[in-house]
Amino acid sequence: MKKPFNNVTVIGTGTLGTQIALLAGNAGYAVTTYDTRKGILGETLARLRSSIEAKGIKPFVPWEQLEKIRSRIHETMNLDEAVQNADLIVESVPEELDIKRAVFKELGEKAPPETILATNSSSMPVSLMEESSGRPDKCLNTHFYVILEGMNMADVMGGTQTTPEVLQKGVDWVRSMGCIALTVKKELLGFCFNRVWRAIKREGLWMWGNGYVDFKDVDRAWMTFTKMKMGPFGIMDSVGLDVVRDIETVYYNESEDAKDKPPQALQDKIDRGELGVKSGRGFYSYPNPEFAQPDFLDSTK
Ligand SMILES: NC(=O)c1ccc[n+]([C@@H]2O[C@H](COP(=O)([O-])OP(=O)(O)OC[C@H]3O[C@@H](n4cnc5c(N)ncnc54)[C@H](O)[C@@H]3O)[C@@H](O)[C@H]2O)c1
Repeated sequence: MKKPFNNVTVIGTGTLGTQIALLAGNAGYAVTTYDTRKGILGETLARLRSSIEAKGIKPFVPWEQLEKIRSRIHETMNLDEAVQNADLIVESVPEELDIKRAVFKELGEKAPPETILATNSSSMPVSLMEESSGRPDKCLNTHFYVILEGMNMADVMGGTQTTPEVLQKGVDWVRSMGCIALTVKKELLGFCFNRVWRAIKREGLWMWGNGYVDFKDVDRAWMTFTKMKMGPFGIMDSVGLDVVRDIETVYYNESEDAKDKPPQALQDKIDRGELGVKSGRGFYSYPNPEFAQPDFLDSTK
């Protein structure tokens, strides 16, 4: 598969940025990463490995190979150095518009004029941040899923002025890394599959948050129906419950529909520090969540 770029820079190497950087390295791109926290790439890789292994999932790139790729990635805490040779920069910083706008502004000022800027935002169209970059024609959404858990796909969507060439390069880049590109032809809040996943997530949260069902039954049903190794609540734990709350809030702010509002019970969990896999507890406890135990789908229980 033809590579549309040589040099890729990832800004923010938490849960998703680390996976994008590793995947790009695996596909032969020269990868540079920048994060405001020192040593976070290695830390995140170790965390991902222990949580994904605990779920019994083998990533499509073996762990030993991923460790080798990581050692080839150029990590820096100097933003000028991080962006100076980049053909593409993907930001994967927290899901807060102010932070993303500030990052797009800095990237627009510091990156070479031809560099394409992408956001990995789960919920915000790039049109919300393109202006601050000063190069809206070269901005796009590339929204990756939890790649190392086997969800090798990404939504790709342009902003208000993205050129067809830039959008196509985004699609080619996603495909060159072994991911399915879900092209969104015109701006849509939630992109393609994220909207489908979001409908499931919203219903699950609403039923659990209002006391109708046990979240484990939702997961049991989902796992039986889809043959997946975890259900919506297990997936939300992987995403991070604070990230889920932020994403749901974006939808709620747009619709103002009470059913879209993240339930108070979710906020209570977050206030107790139960953020999911990253804090060791969310809906389930980690590293050995109940849904990964052999008897979770035992019909006699
Ligand atoms: N977690 C998921 O499953 C998931 C899935 C798809 C998309 N996303 C999206 O990816 C983005 C990142 O989410 P995440 O879960 O990886 O978050 P995270 O909290 O795990 O990682 C964010 C990283 O950004 C760094 N950071 C913060 N401010 C920064 C700045 N100004 N410059 C550089 N680095 C900075 C933090 O130190 C941290 O390492 C969000 O937009 C989120 O919506 C997340």
